Amino acid sequence: MTIRDSTARYGAVSRAFHWAVAALLLWQFGGMLSERILGEDSPLAAALSANHKQVGTILFVLIVARAVWALVNRGRRPAHGPGLQGYAVRLGHFALYALMLAVPSAALLRAWGNERAFAPFGFQIFASRSPDEVVATATAIGSNFHGELAWIMGVLILGHIAMAVLHQVVLRDGTLKRMAG
Ligand code: HEM
Repeated sequence: MTIRDSTARYGAVSRAFHWAVAALLLWQFGGMLSERILGEDSPLAAALSANHKQVGTILFVLIVARAVWALVNRGRRPAHGPGLQGYAVRLGHFALYALMLAVPSAALLRAWGNERAFAPFGFQIFASRSPDEVVATATAIGSNFHGELAWIMGVLILGHIAMAVLHQVVLRDGTLKRMAG
């Protein structure tokens, strides 16, 4: 398998990014959904959401690197089909990238602007602030948009999975193989 992408299939780096991000997003949504459905004290919710901020920070780094890699491989990736269908696929993928970047960014912005120090894995990224140094706009963006955009992204991901299954099971056109075969 090649490192870079080609018009026939995604290469090793794109595949590693795709499946690593998918697994960690599943972890994040699994934690938040089980909190909602089973309650915050349930063992499953506690286990999956205990490291939400750390996993989210790793995701942010992976997603930025993935977006850069997508730009580097622009023009040498599998085509999305002609006409309106091709535009719809491109729009869907663009929305997924935009939300994957916006969701952790909103949370990190809040972590930067609020009173508490932010030190995932013990490494301090943002220092604490005194109450008069709090950046209210940054905390408001996190509080108003992080969770909301995350659920919208969750719905888009379900649509993305449904289309992959449709291509594999009904259309049988080998689309899934470009990323998984
Ligand atoms: C792509 C990565 C991430 C995903 C998919 C994600 C997803 C979510 C979801 C679905 C919720 C539940 C919202 C609700 O209860 O309605 C949530 C809440 C939360 N997340 Fe994240 N998150 C990510 C990254 C982060 C990061 C990096 C941080 C910290 C810097 C963070 C901090 C929080 C906090 C404090 C909450 C609870 C308060 C709130 O709803 O905003 N998340 N996240």
